[in-house]
Amino acid sequence: MIIERPGEFESYGKLRIYRPVKVLELDGTGADSDPNTLVYSHAMLADTALRTAIVVPVKDEELVKLRGVVQAIPHPSTVIVVSASRREPTDVYRDEVDMLSEIHRRTGKRIIATWQRDPAWGEALKGTPLEPLLGEDGLVRYGKGEGMLLGALLAYSMGLDYLGLIDSDNFSPGSVLEYSLTYYAGFLAVESELSMVRLKWPYKGKLESSEIPYLRKRGRVSTVTNEYLNAAISRRRGLETIIVETANSGEHALTTKLAVRMPWAGGYAVEPYQLVSLLERCWLTLEPPCDDLEGAVEVLQVETLSPHIHSERGEEHIAKMIGVSLASIYWSRLATEDLREAIREKVVEAGLQDVPSMMIYPPPGETWPNRIVKAFESNSELYTVLG
Ligand code: GDD
Repeated sequence: MIIERPGEFESYGKLRIYRPVKVLELDGTGADSDPNTLVYSHAMLADTALRTAIVVPVKDEELVKLRGVVQAIPHPSTVIVVSASRREPTDVYRDEVDMLSEIHRRTGKRIIATWQRDPAWGEALKGTPLEPLLGEDGLVRYGKGEGMLLGALLAYSMGLDYLGLIDSDNFSPGSVLEYSLTYYAGFLAVESELSMVRLKWPYKGKLESSEIPYLRKRGRVSTVTNEYLNAAISRRRGLETIIVETANSGEHALTTKLAVRMPWAGGYAVEPYQLVSLLERCWLTLEPPCDDLEGAVEVLQVETLSPHIHSERGEEHIAKMIGVSLASIYWSRLATEDLREAIREKVVEAGLQDVPSMMIYPPPGETWPNRIVKAFESNSELYTVLG
């Protein structure tokens, strides 16, 4: 793979955010790195792949999409499917596990599957700092962020160094391969053990409910969240910035070390909150992950070659996503009073009554993941380890 060499960046205390770089070639065999580019061989990428878990959150998606995503993830990486799919009246989780077993049988691919609502998670999390993950029914709450956090606990406890996230509602397996390769290359391009790779797309589009294909340059939610997050930083800094181009990056990866040192937000606030909390903790104050850190936390933004073709939800879903995304800024120490007012107006304009509340879970820390996962594994009847 060839990517542009990360260059220009902005520093926010101990946080360094790079201007987006681009993927230049998917296979750079025979090319040489130069001052502007980085070339990674198959062997280099495979070594990083082996140290990576790719977490795939899924909730009631067509099996064919999940299959394409899982099969497109490079063989050396461990795939962790975190499913919040229904079990009644039909057992979709069971179908997912059977399909994953069949992939494993034919390819030998290492795949882990867990059901987000497994009572064994409830038991394992009770009495730990992550107990707030549990709802009143004693089960892990629904939400993409909640599912990703379970995936992070599993990846960390397996001793893997990197954690990549790839949504399961992707119609294009080729793009999934590119996202994975880009994560590996991104981690090779940065120096810090606490780093994050966030993807942006040249185009994104919908296939469902559209008669005329139309590929948008930017997502409807990302455009808004990027604008408000940049405005929050600009106001605090007294200097305008447009550095953030990946506020809602559903496809992103982080070192597992960073994953356990950061707080996590629930639902779809998870991605913008990662940047918000890093800015709060590494710039405005010095708290984990930045409290005892000599170097910087690095955030690399990369534009892929592939467009993102996924299931597109309706207007109500978009309004909710704008609400929770802006809530992550609204409720943070980053937001000034005038920006809070502007966010409130934007959320109402999007069709919501008010800025929603949000769930924030504390950093898992370095010892809890192993303890929680051990308790979970010994108790679960639904946990599936293939390979
Ligand atoms: N485990 C789990 N639990 N998975 C979930 C849940 C849940 O409660 N809810 C949704 N998912 C899965 C979906 O099946 C899908 O694979 C993925 O999470 C993303 O959910 P979508 O509902 O398809 O999100 P989206 O396409 O509107 O938004 C995506 O892109 C945004 C940026 O454009 C998400 O990745 C957002 O987080 C992201 O901000």
